[in-house]
Amino acid sequence: MSARRIEFALLAVALATTPALRAQSDSPRAVDFAKEVLPILEARCFSCHQAPKADARGRVQKPKGGLRLDGAHWLRKGGDTGRVVVANQPEKSELLRRVELDADDPDLMPPKDGALSADQIATLRAWIAGGAEMGAWVGAPAPAGASDAPAPSARPANAVNARQLALRELGEGLTPLPEATLVKLKSEKLRLEPALPGSALLRASFPAHRTEITDADVLALAPLREHLAIVDLARAKLGAKSVAFLAELPRLMKLDLTDTGLAARDLEACATGLRTTRELNLNGTGIDDTSLVWLAGLPALEDLYLWRTKITAAGIAKLRAAKPSLHLRYELALPEPPPPGDTPERRRRR
Ligand code: HEC
Repeated sequence: MSARRIEFALLAVALATTPALRAQSDSPRAVDFAKEVLPILEARCFSCHQAPKADARGRVQKPKGGLRLDGAHWLRKGGDTGRVVVANQPEKSELLRRVELDADDPDLMPPKDGALSADQIATLRAWIAGGAEMGAWVGAPAPAGASDAPAPSARPANAVNARQLALRELGEGLTPLPEATLVKLKSEKLRLEPALPGSALLRASFPAHRTEITDADVLALAPLREHLAIVDLARAKLGAKSVAFLAELPRLMKLDLTDTGLAARDLEACATGLRTTRELNLNGTGIDDTSLVWLAGLPALEDLYLWRTKITAAGIAKLRAAKPSLHLRYELALPEPPPPGDTPERRRRR
């Protein structure tokens, strides 16, 4: 991460907590869809998100992710996971989330030839915040008799909403960290941003340096203890010390420990911690059936990711029985049919 990017991330934290600027962002600037937004979509998105077409070898290329962006009807309709643009609500718009992801995030859009520029992202955000109007633009027409109802969503918008509300609640009454603390923590590796716009809660990640991150980097986050709500440590090289620290964070809502090399016994410290954690990602860790008891006992847990672990079919069945409300994402050597109502969720797959 360049020094400028860090300055920017810190500035974003500072700005989000400045009331005057927050008020200003409530009235987004008017964006001309045809002049400002459409050219971005055309240049960077249409190639993969348009009507099915035959490629050079005659094979039909379907729109990726079930999403077409080449017509007003299609844009409103959304993709396989449902609506991607929610008028006036940039935070709920998957389209914006996808273009704002870290450069090394596999879900980033467009997936190749570089991310959108900060200006382009700002334009998309302002357009959505201002109501996502498309003016007279129709583009590729809707099929006869089609409605703009979104595709059934794997993750209902109200679930996303509930998570944001919960984040707001967690952050209530919390004083933003003094700028001096943030400046002191400033490093090439660490990226800090508000967990939600305007919230004192923080999201910490190490975008370009994941694999270099060790326990020392995690323990250095101690001054942020009260403020960390989202911590992304995927691919870091961690041990039990990090787990002990993370488990005790009082406002941790989301923790990603994908491919951190943690063994089942390293993760045991979670058993008495993670009281506020709703989403836990343990893909590719050493977690196994011995961990089921504490996993089932995590009070706030809603989403649990267990791809590439040693959890067995029997273990999954036990976990489901112990905590029926839990959304589980996993794979087994012999796949079992998904129980009704638990559709696999692609949006957050990793
Ligand atoms: C090179 C091909 C390619 C380009 C260009 C591309 N995408 Fe995608 N997009 C994909 C693929 C593949 C998926 C499905 C896999 C996934 O969900 O990541 C996808 C999925 C999506 C989804 C999720 C749809 C859903 O409901 O699951 C959104 C939103 C999206 N793209 C937005 C964009 C935007 C906005 C742009 C332009 C800025 C863009 N994409 C450019 C390939 C592309």
